Amino acid sequence: MPKILVLPGDGIGVEVTNVSLDVLKTVGEKHKIQFDFETALFGGCSIDAYGVPITDEVLKKAKSSDAVLLGAVGGPKWDNLKYGIRPERGLLAIRKELDAFANLRPAIVYSALGDASSLKREIVEGVDIMVVRELTGGIYFGTPRGIEHLSNGEEKGVNTLVYTTSEIERIARMAFGIARKRRKRLTSIDKANILEVMELWRRTVTRIGKEEFPDVELDHLYVDNAAMQLIRRPKSFDVILADNMFGDILSDEAAQLTGSLGMLPSASIGHGGAIYEPVHGSAPDIAGKDIANPIASVLTSAMMLKYSLNLDQAAEEVENAVKTVLEKGYRTADIHQEGMKRVGCREMGRLIVEEVKKL
Ligand code: IPM
Ligand code: MN
Repeated sequence: MPKILVLPGDGIGVEVTNVSLDVLKTVGEKHKIQFDFETALFGGCSIDAYGVPITDEVLKKAKSSDAVLLGAVGGPKWDNLKYGIRPERGLLAIRKELDAFANLRPAIVYSALGDASSLKREIVEGVDIMVVRELTGGIYFGTPRGIEHLSNGEEKGVNTLVYTTSEIERIARMAFGIARKRRKRLTSIDKANILEVMELWRRTVTRIGKEEFPDVELDHLYVDNAAMQLIRRPKSFDVILADNMFGDILSDEAAQLTGSLGMLPSASIGHGGAIYEPVHGSAPDIAGKDIANPIASVLTSAMMLKYSLNLDQAAEEVENAVKTVLEKGYRTADIHQEGMKRVGCREMGRLIVEEVKKL
């Protein structure tokens, strides 16, 4: 029985994760798989209950699970806390603890949603990009870090962007490996014209490509140019490899190509386990109103079925159910357009469950 730790977190994380659990139970029944779901507090709600965004006990449970399914964390209530105990720190802690160094963020434009993007349909139709973001290194974790008071009364804030050869090698291998199974094109993102650490990044990625993946076409873009090309010619991208911070930024941009952040799933995999989380945040402004889009979470569950549980068939059924519901014209508010049928979070979930049963 696959053991899944469920951490719905805060805000809309709770609503969308509930939908995912319904979908997983349904697809599980069909395939005669029972999941062992255990739910725990994570993020702001864990701070309220225990004073920390994630307890050691939950971290331990995460490590002994087959997969962790996350919702979202954070909200205005916890925004003024010290950095060390903010909800987002829980996210960084669990990523680090599970050594989940590779964050896979696919951005696919469904043809039913070609007009939901803020870009023209002809630019985005057919876009199918996989962003591979390094997740446990770089400026998110580098030291020294912090804010210090100077004797002249000023403050000084410091963060450090640091990568070692082996950290770059393992994420590069992951990205090349994924590209090899797709359209065999990898674009590595850096700022090698100005940062030494990025020069090392470029040099290392180039070497791994030459030595181990000569069949994959590699090119390099500076991050500023990449941000532009991504909205100019998104279809020309296959796999994008980026460090932690650039990957964070570019994956939101890639998300918008698809019409809404509410559509984007992600998987964070490594040696110690795997974490599945929608790319979107906790959206406190719409939380509890039953209007959030659960599709990112549902597609995230599909990634979990595929990458952690080897249930490719079940994953495909979930993805196809989502596609069918969209083709039938059902839309949550974030992707709604004239002439479409507007539904809430729970109803969207029910429709997807119905389709899963039919497939
Ligand atoms: C993401 C989020 C997180 C990140 C935040 C909430 C810490 O933006 O998963 O993309 O920056 O990694
Ligand atoms: Mn982000």
